[in-house]
Amino acid sequence: MKKRLASILCSIPGLSSFFAGCKAQNKETGFLKIENISGRKVIDINSGWDFYLETLESKEGSAYTVMNFRQIGDPKTVDLPHDWSIEQAFTDDYDTENESASLPGGVAWYSKTIKEEDMQAFTEKNITLSFGGVYMRAYVYINGEEVAGNLYGYNSFGVDISQYFTTPQDIEITVLVINQLPNSRWYSGSGIYRKVFLTVTEPVYVVPDGTYITTADLAETHEGQVNVRIDNEIKNKSTDAQNITVKNTLYDPQGNLVSETEAESLTLNSGEMQCKTLNLAVEKPELWSTENAALYTVRTTISLGDTVLDTYDTDYGFRWLNYDTEQGFLLNGVPTKLKGVCLHHDQGALGACAYTDAMQRQLEIMKEMGVNAIRTSHNPACDELIDLCNQMGLLVIEESFDTWEGAKNEYDFSTLYNTKLKGTSLNLISAEKCTWAEFVVKAMVKRDRNDPCIIMWSLGNEIQGKNSAKNSKRLSSYVEEVDPYALGGRKKIYAEDDIRSGIDNNWAKVIRGFSANDGESDSISVVGVNYIDAGTFEQVHREYPDIFMLSTESSSALRSRGEYFHPDTIKGDFNTDTKATENSQMSSYDNEMASWANSAMFDWQYDISLDYVLGEFVWTGFDYLGEPTPFTDNSQSFYPTSSYFGITDTAGFAKDIYYFYQSQWRSAEEQPVLHLLPTWDLTQTQLDENGNALVVCYTNAKSVELRARKPGLQGEYVSFGIQTFKAEKSSAGLREYQINPDPTAIYKMALEWDVPYEQYKDYEIYAVALNADGTQNTRFNGASGRDVLRKAGTASQISLTQYTYQNTLGISDDNYQLYYFTVEVKDNAGNLVNTYNENIVFSIEGNAEIVGVDNGNSSDTSATKFADTSNINAFHGKALVIVKADKGQAFSLSAKSGDLQAVVQAGK
Ligand code: GAL
Repeated sequence: MKKRLASILCSIPGLSSFFAGCKAQNKETGFLKIENISGRKVIDINSGWDFYLETLESKEGSAYTVMNFRQIGDPKTVDLPHDWSIEQAFTDDYDTENESASLPGGVAWYSKTIKEEDMQAFTEKNITLSFGGVYMRAYVYINGEEVAGNLYGYNSFGVDISQYFTTPQDIEITVLVINQLPNSRWYSGSGIYRKVFLTVTEPVYVVPDGTYITTADLAETHEGQVNVRIDNEIKNKSTDAQNITVKNTLYDPQGNLVSETEAESLTLNSGEMQCKTLNLAVEKPELWSTENAALYTVRTTISLGDTVLDTYDTDYGFRWLNYDTEQGFLLNGVPTKLKGVCLHHDQGALGACAYTDAMQRQLEIMKEMGVNAIRTSHNPACDELIDLCNQMGLLVIEESFDTWEGAKNEYDFSTLYNTKLKGTSLNLISAEKCTWAEFVVKAMVKRDRNDPCIIMWSLGNEIQGKNSAKNSKRLSSYVEEVDPYALGGRKKIYAEDDIRSGIDNNWAKVIRGFSANDGESDSISVVGVNYIDAGTFEQVHREYPDIFMLSTESSSALRSRGEYFHPDTIKGDFNTDTKATENSQMSSYDNEMASWANSAMFDWQYDISLDYVLGEFVWTGFDYLGEPTPFTDNSQSFYPTSSYFGITDTAGFAKDIYYFYQSQWRSAEEQPVLHLLPTWDLTQTQLDENGNALVVCYTNAKSVELRARKPGLQGEYVSFGIQTFKAEKSSAGLREYQINPDPTAIYKMALEWDVPYEQYKDYEIYAVALNADGTQNTRFNGASGRDVLRKAGTASQISLTQYTYQNTLGISDDNYQLYYFTVEVKDNAGNLVNTYNENIVFSIEGNAEIVGVDNGNSSDTSATKFADTSNINAFHGKALVIVKADKGQAFSLSAKSGDLQAVVQAGK
């Protein structure tokens, strides 16, 4: 991808400055890289759309036509990305379900006119209109004529609209969007929720996603000369045959030209498309890895004599992948356990709007925890998310569907799976008639096949239909057609989720049918399993030793930030009458989970111990809107609106389990972690029957002492004893991990103490990491996590803290920025008041807008929690406010709760 990022981005109006000959800024690395780009322009048309909301009712079609939709009434002006569902109140009208967050879908129209005078220079050019994603069914019209229909909602699509530019006229783009519920089993959002661009080229051009770059011998040659093969798909839409030259150039991550091919000639007849394959050589390229995301640029240049007709850039990373039946996954030859999370696409309070900044923050929070991989459950990702993963060194399993032929919901993808694209659906990537299953898989793979972050294509999530074997083969063949040289031309990798647990005849049949480890080809498949247990993994490994497996979903534990129920008080899973359900919150002691699931610790323990298991993808990294298990019964009048599965809440605030994963996924050398739970403001239900609080420590220290002291009394302390981990080795001896050796311990990968609460409730409880000789290990001072528990006094101050993006070079091309502020209510001494749940009112001054507020409380049932951005109730002392402002614009933001107020100046 990134054809767009390395091209010139302009927006309408303001095309004049564009023609002044701007330089292409390399957004990935932030420096001016490659000058003299000509022939290709990418125009940002995301601002100023007219939006007509026809109905929130779940309808099959519109009551209007493209000729009369304006009769709906006055439009609202919106900028894209846009999601009309998140602007609504939670409701049980309009066929909503709490599985998809009790927010309506409906029918709406978007329209934007591009003025003739702005586009005059583009007469005779090749013009493509491309959509990152529209949910769900999108019908695109130009000047009243239907030019595309895209029905899935999660794939990118585009359409050639050049014919409308042959005569001088205004160009009106109209998009009808229909979201008929129920479809996705999670919150989808509604509308043009990803970005829209116009790409202008000469009539001879590189077709969209038309480069394919492979380095088949990288593993063997990376220390010397590496051959890079580049397939360039080029089309001639002009009325005459063209004798052109094609050339490829390679730039290193610093923007230096490191290799180029000769310009080779090519004759294209009028209307013809050809693939020109060129090879270039590069000496010892820097490898792309999770630690060093070295991104090269491959440039394709098409010229006619001395005139450059097109310049097309593709990001590329030199890396190779291996799978080993004992060592698991290897990146560049290094065994690499996949420490992954599943992520749905919503961004909490922003709904489905795919803001690059929001995705960047989300990925940064995950990476900080130690994540090295993402599974884009259960659909193709936004283009910009893939770019971010390339930039940040995050590995990606990109997933196509949640359903094949079998319906999970009435209007889901099963209605399209075997349906052919209509003749009017002139989608760019596949103008020929094919099924939606074929189109979506090919579109996904073609768009992202050069991206180094992609390590597997997932053909679907939990597909348990009777035709699984047949369908797996069929979908695999689509991948092979578009990405035949995956993994350096020797192996093709597919992940498939199929079986939840246990091996039966069907499972074996599917694996045999799907897996190409059958000697017939050199492809391999990876079996993704959800919620399998250690015993089953071991059994499969014994019976099918050549099969590669991973936990595509692990854990599905439930928790609410700041809520604790002593393990003794939780009797079973959520279906039983647990303490947790009394206030509709789940316990953060890693002791509640869905009935089919395991605790975080349980699943990670077997995953780390079995080297042949490639890794785990925890369900989920962030809480997402919808699927508020265990409250998924639609007959209830009570509707929590987001999941409890997240390692962070919807606001991105860490729950305690964040520090568990961080203690496991990052080494003490890299990031010491020392985190205590619960908080120190407990009630009877949070203690055991003897009145003890269970204090748990998540840490990557080897040994920890828990102490108590009276606040302010340095030196004097009571010790609750030293706990020390025991080291264990994984199955192939690749990894060492720490186990609590106490056979009576509740938590096997953490340390724990019983503390008489009444006696010590006014003390500070604190953790001290120790060296082998018993002295304090000072590397853990100020480590990640909360190493002191202290009861807070009364709320006496409020603070607003701005999130600092870690990638300061900036990835987003947008002319605006999202600013995230954490609101915290504290006592005089600066301790967070965990019990504070009062309303906080926001106001803003300056050329900026509050676009989202959140508290991360899944059980907050206020109807307008996200729709009304002027205020929100704090949840355990915290809230989040998100501001959108043009880059460089200053603003002032205030947060007020009762007598407490904080004001910050930001934005310059
Ligand atoms: C899985 C499913 C996910 C989510 C999860 C909750 O079976 O694939 O989409 O529903 O369960 O535990």
